[in-house]
Amino acid sequence: MAILRITKYGEPILRQKLKPVNYADIAPKLPKLLADMEETCLAVHGVGLAANQIGLDYRLALILIPQSDEENAPLKRYVIINPVILSKRGEKLEEEGCLSLPGLWADVKRATDVTIKYIDENGVEQVKRARGLLAKAFQHEVDHLDGKLFVDLVDPKLKPEVKKAIKKLRSNWD
Ligand code: CO
Repeated sequence: MAILRITKYGEPILRQKLKPVNYADIAPKLPKLLADMEETCLAVHGVGLAANQIGLDYRLALILIPQSDEENAPLKRYVIINPVILSKRGEKLEEEGCLSLPGLWADVKRATDVTIKYIDENGVEQVKRARGLLAKAFQHEVDHLDGKLFVDLVDPKLKPEVKKAIKKLRSNWD
């Protein structure tokens, strides 16, 4: 396994809308790729990691999320390949961060309830309804695969402040 470098805000691949992949083509690479992505995500205490965050143009993301609200609950891994959000409901303004913008936290509006369709790591199509943190993670990761970042969703009035904060933080990024 290996810890991969995470691409940072400003790198063009984070603004690419990634095209669906053919599962059979990427299947042989998946075991090592997913192990590396999981190790990388764990190393920085992330909730999710999209392929373009490690420099790969696959429409694929990995999510690591506690199975329950209990302290030290085991993490459940979701691998979402070619995900599509089928429906969204509710709205909530909540603080969010991103591994590609380390150190920055800002409030963004997200749906509270989403239904998503994707291919899992075994090549099986799944339709899943999610609420809470998982719903947020699905939206955040699908946005990544569409070339969008959470700061795009910040209230326009707060954007100058966010821009300033990013400028300051950037000098610390690798
Ligand atoms: Co992110």
